[in-house]
Amino acid sequence: MSSIRRRGWILLSLLIVIPGCVNGVSWLPDSSGFVFTTDSGKLVVYDVKTKATRVLVEDTKSSTYWPAVSPDGGRIAVARLRFDDLKSHLQVVVYDLKGKVVHESKSIAWGRSDQKPDDDMNTTTQLFWDPAGNKLLIYGSIHTRYGTTGIYDMNSGATTLFERTVPSVYGVTPIRPDGKGFVLAKLSNKGEKLEELMWVDWQGKVKPVRAAFELKNDDQQTQLVWPVLRWSAWDGNMAIATTPAGRTRIDTVKAQAIRHEPDLVTAKLPALQLYQLSIVAPKPPEGTFDKLASDRGHTLFSGKADCARCHVHPLFMEPGWPMHTAAEIGIDDFQAKRSPDERYRTAPLRGLWTHTKGGFYHDGRFATIPDVINHYNAHFKLGLTQPEINDLAEYLKSV
Ligand code: HEC
Repeated sequence: MSSIRRRGWILLSLLIVIPGCVNGVSWLPDSSGFVFTTDSGKLVVYDVKTKATRVLVEDTKSSTYWPAVSPDGGRIAVARLRFDDLKSHLQVVVYDLKGKVVHESKSIAWGRSDQKPDDDMNTTTQLFWDPAGNKLLIYGSIHTRYGTTGIYDMNSGATTLFERTVPSVYGVTPIRPDGKGFVLAKLSNKGEKLEELMWVDWQGKVKPVRAAFELKNDDQQTQLVWPVLRWSAWDGNMAIATTPAGRTRIDTVKAQAIRHEPDLVTAKLPALQLYQLSIVAPKPPEGTFDKLASDRGHTLFSGKADCARCHVHPLFMEPGWPMHTAAEIGIDDFQAKRSPDERYRTAPLRGLWTHTKGGFYHDGRFATIPDVINHYNAHFKLGLTQPEINDLAEYLKSV
């Protein structure tokens, strides 16, 4: 299905749910690249460092527009959805990073038998992996208005289906940042009305979300179901979507949705975001670092010291969900425990030279740059020598 046709559809029928105008990409967990599918069914890996694309599978025979990467980064799942004998059938296919099939499900009956495709362009699937690496959240639809979401258990083959639901409530990913569950939007019989928002865990347990505003058939709720056109995000356990009427916040712990009207914030966000993105980190003045040592440090940063695993070039921050447990980075969890996802955020390193006073890390616990490096050296057992630590420190002063 061509993206131009799809986009045309979006413009023509804003009220109709078409998850699929933009193919989703899934990051590899080490941020070295991402995976996506093409309209012709290819499965492709993009390598951020070499800027090369590699076709993993020539033809997945699927119309998956959002493939899922397993948490260990070793497996990629797509789903084939077919309609025959008046029924939809879905098959999950999992590939390894060489493109070899490592798991194939049986044919799974997917959704109501009275659902018929309105046009084959609407057959589409999107998948998300659970944090334990055993289950997949799968959305499969054969019709612009009808879709079914299901949890597929790879070990037992069992499937839990949620009819007439759409998982992409929050555009970016329906999975809450801590991985514990997701938000689904349930549609009415003909798919024209948003009936219910629900919080679902990986066991399939549903908690209905009480909404402090009326869920009705208008453009505002279409944006809730299909908000990719607008800004939406997770803020810890809170899913936030912007709609023409205002910002909707879903507290997935309290199972409560609130909309603030009038919304004084949303209209200002795009300009604010562009301004933020336009700020260039200041360059260090001449002579404040040793150029040759810094070049050697650069090589270490992405090589032996493996810092670029989290502080990814060129922004030295982490794409996706840039959060790490205290144990991962080898410090206590006192401050992390006070945050919604109980983790520390990978600090962006551009312009590090501008704030060398007051210490490094969230609480300034490391007084100098070499102190930070010594910590990593011990924690990750990097085996950096003293001259290498110096080189890396010079490099950090240069970014
Ligand atoms: C597993 C991910 C990870 C790796 C690998 C990693 N870092 Fe970090 N880095 C973090 C996180 C998370 C923080 C924020 C910690 C905090 O705020 O307490 C951080 C903070 C920092 C800071 C402090 C920045 C500031 O403004 O206070 C520096 C400097 C730094 N890292 C350098 C490095 C170097 C050099 C390496 C390689 C030796 C490295 N990091 C490897 C995750 C990582």
